[in-house]
Amino acid sequence: MRNVVLIGFMGTGKSEIGQLLARRLGWTFIDTDGRVESRERATVAQIFARRGEEYFRAVEAQVVADVASRRDVVIATGGGVVLKPENMMHLRRGGWIVSLTASVDVLVDRLGEAPTRPLLRSPSGGVREQLGRLLDQRRPLYRDADLLVDVSDATPARVVEAIVAFLRARDRMTIPVRVDDRLSPVHIGDGILALLPGDLSETGAGRQVVILSHRGLEPVAGAKLIAALKAWDYETLEVDMPVGEATKSLPAAARVYTRLARARIDRASTLIAVGGGVIGDVGGFVAATYMRGIRLVQVPTSLLAMVDSSIGGKTGVNHAGVKNLVGAFYQPALTVADVRVLSTLPDRELRSGLAEVIKTAVIGDATLFDHVEQHLPAILRKETGVLVEIIARCAAFKARVVEADEREQSERRILNYGHTIGHAVEAAAGFSRLTHGEAIAIGMALEAQISQRLGIAASSVVDRQNKLLARAGLPTTLGAVNRRAVWRAMALDKKIRDGVLRCPLPVGIGEVVREQEVPDKLLQEVLGSAPSISLRRRPGPRPRRLRA
Ligand SMILES: NC(=O)c1ccc[n+]([C@@H]2O[C@H](COP(=O)([O-])OP(=O)(O)OC[C@H]3O[C@@H](n4cnc5c(N)ncnc54)[C@H](O)[C@@H]3O)[C@@H](O)[C@H]2O)c1
Repeated sequence: MRNVVLIGFMGTGKSEIGQLLARRLGWTFIDTDGRVESRERATVAQIFARRGEEYFRAVEAQVVADVASRRDVVIATGGGVVLKPENMMHLRRGGWIVSLTASVDVLVDRLGEAPTRPLLRSPSGGVREQLGRLLDQRRPLYRDADLLVDVSDATPARVVEAIVAFLRARDRMTIPVRVDDRLSPVHIGDGILALLPGDLSETGAGRQVVILSHRGLEPVAGAKLIAALKAWDYETLEVDMPVGEATKSLPAAARVYTRLARARIDRASTLIAVGGGVIGDVGGFVAATYMRGIRLVQVPTSLLAMVDSSIGGKTGVNHAGVKNLVGAFYQPALTVADVRVLSTLPDRELRSGLAEVIKTAVIGDATLFDHVEQHLPAILRKETGVLVEIIARCAAFKARVVEADEREQSERRILNYGHTIGHAVEAAAGFSRLTHGEAIAIGMALEAQISQRLGIAASSVVDRQNKLLARAGLPTTLGAVNRRAVWRAMALDKKIRDGVLRCPLPVGIGEVVREQEVPDKLLQEVLGSAPSISLRRRPGPRPRRLRA
């Protein structure tokens, strides 16, 4: 997100509004006049009197050049900062220029008839005349701003609200997800975590907020978020989770319930899951079940979580060796994907997230596929613009699918492409040797092969997909993964109904068949072994009818 630079005439309230805004965003407030004063160890009036205006403007220009390069700051400038074009050039580079305006009457009223400001002391007339003259001279410069806010009749809090509304509209993309007439927006942008508390307060959330995360993420997300929440007077409870897939378990969820109960977290509270897909899934599950459901906010911190797991409301934990065996559909009140937190994401995890991006492209967005092919080096360098673009496109696609079929009765099944074999591969690798994305990449390569062998996809489609997966540094073969273990895990898969495996298969890039029956024999061939276990379960006794 860009900085906010407040410009405007003296008396428009730049310092008060700037401090309030900075507090709301959890940012640093900088007052350029204050900086000049501490550099010169003299007040502005003294500098004007002793060294003259020109000297003051030269020091001010140095201060501006310095502070303009900082991030996450609200800068209140002196009224004359606009007079030097190079000042504005520096400030515009990293910030929005917000001009505070007021009528002459209001300014005279605020400044008084005997002001301390040196520029209003004039031998040739009263304050009103001098103020009018200066305003006429500077008005065009104050108008050259990204946002103009008239502060004449507004309280500082209202002005801050107007600026925050502007930032929301300009600094982030929002993908709406509508399920059962409830809106669950996904916000995507750079540095946008600062806007979360304001959004939360609009949902009518209670004062208690639980932040479920792990310590490693504190510098990049947790601490900032907590500071911003506190500025909005939220009470925060931090719950630390261990890293790794093992955290997605009922015992881990139970430990969180205990913490919440001991802290007397009530029904009106919000749980913010700050982390990768693991914390998102278990946090979502806890939010769905604690007191029969409390408000959930997803703050994904891995690429995989941003493009996939934080959207769509699937929550759950693994159990009895089966992925996501216990869970619930539970939509978050909002999701905030701040790409700035990806700065600390390890390279392997970034590539892992790309597997879900490529999956999305293969099943439904051929232009996204072209985009990733073209911009892969920029993605791997974590360039902000391209990351926001791919996350927004994946989120938009997933939103469309989830809106059509939240409970995975039909359309949503296409999102499982690569996951039928992929989940089994992940389990066979002990949920630790491969990342989720790597397992899904292998699943996609093998399921694409099945599609080709069934005559559904052309070999050129399979080659193109696998080439991109490989360029992204993802595996496309089983390697050392134990085939029998894969087969065993597949036998437990929820997607196998009546012993028959049906899964989505690609037709071309951007096109998929939702459900295709896959013969056991073909599956065995593709997996490269002929295990003795059949997917077809032995027929057991018929279930008895239960009497009401
Ligand atoms: N609910 C769904 O719809 C859905 C969809 C896809 C995947 N998933 C689930 O998501 C999980 C995989 O998610 P994942 O790949 O994010 O795994 P993860 O949550 O384990 O995160 C991967 C690693 O990256 C670290 N990490 C995350 N963000 C970081 C950051 N900004 N800086 C530094 N380190 C960071 C984590 O601590 C972890 O060590 C799996 O359990 C999978 O089943 C769920």
